Amino acid sequence: MNIACGTDIIEIKRIKQSIETIGEKFLNRIYTINEINYCESKKSQKYQHYAARFAAKEAIFKASSKFIDNKFSVDWKDFEILNDSQGRPYVSKAANLKFNQIDISISHCKQYATANVIIIK
Ligand SMILES: CC(C)(COP(=O)(O)OP(=O)(O)OC[C@H]1O[C@@H](n2cnc3c(N)ncnc32)[C@H](O)[C@@H]1OP(=O)(O)O)[C@@H](O)C(=O)NCCC(=O)NCCS
Repeated sequence: MNIACGTDIIEIKRIKQSIETIGEKFLNRIYTINEINYCESKKSQKYQHYAARFAAKEAIFKASSKFIDNKFSVDWKDFEILNDSQGRPYVSKAANLKFNQIDISISHCKQYATANVIIIK
């Protein structure tokens, strides 16, 4: 059994700036439609949720780099982070990397968002 972990932390203002300056082009490059719908439902808090998903994807990239040779073979939207009925985040789509298990945890406050991931292959 192979295990990999990944983590990331990001300043929410960085994501807010990207969304405000690049707009839809940025959103559509990074996030799936389900992720956009979730974040937009958070109204004025949305930047925290966008930043959290950005951090989550970076954390997944870090963890999955243990198993893939060419990091350019995966893209932001190859991974999707959704929430179950309890609000718990999960990775609903993980490219075609055939992981046995992938578990994620997210946290955010006013300034920062962070995510941790564990992958079992
Ligand atoms: C759900 C909860 C964990 C969120 O914690 P928080 O400090 O308010 O907020 P954070 O910024 O740290 O975390 C937010 C993220 O938690 C995640 N989350 C939400 N519900 C969750 C759950 N049931 N399980 C795991 N993660 C959850 C989500 O990913 C959320 O971010 P997202 O909406 O962008 O996806 C918290 O509100 C809660 O209910 N805690 C239970 C407290 C408790 O019962 N304590 C006693 C036993 S330890």
